[in-house]
Amino acid sequence: MRIMFGLTSILITASACSNPDPELQQRLGSVVYSTYCHSCHEAPGTGPRLTPAVLASRLDAARLYTYNQQQMPYNAAETLSDEDYLNVTAWLLVRANLLAPNTTLSMRNMETFLLTPPNEEASPSTPKP
Ligand code: HEC
Repeated sequence: MRIMFGLTSILITASACSNPDPELQQRLGSVVYSTYCHSCHEAPGTGPRLTPAVLASRLDAARLYTYNQQQMPYNAAETLSDEDYLNVTAWLLVRANLLAPNTTLSMRNMETFLLTPPNEEASPSTPKP
């Protein structure tokens, strides 16, 4: 019930050109993920683990969104709403620490969020012989 109400208010807020609440976007995104993505993307699923490095390889949030929409769910691409793709993309990025949790991802701002891959583990310095 709360989720239904939330979706409605996202649509209303989106059409009024202001940003929906980031917390709400995260909650909705997590529901999309557990409903449509989790079965393949958590071990022992058939899809790859969506690690920070894997997500960051898409370069920016807009490209990740487009990939998700055009390729996922695998064999059922483009079956979710734009809002669902947006919310799940935001949720994946926040979970991976690639987007600040107080950010609302939108169609307008997503190109501005560049995805910086997490630092490689600093290679241990070689001890001098
Ligand atoms: C039926 C299984 C399945 C489902 C459901 C599924 N995926 Fe995938 N996903 C895959 C497979 C398999 C690949 C690898 C595709 C390839 O390499 O061409 C993949 C690749 C990806 C990648 C790219 C990973 C990389 O290596 O660059 C992302 C991001 C992704 N999926 C997100 C999602 C999201 C978001 C959802 C839910 C909306 C989802 N997937 C649902 C199987 C699935």
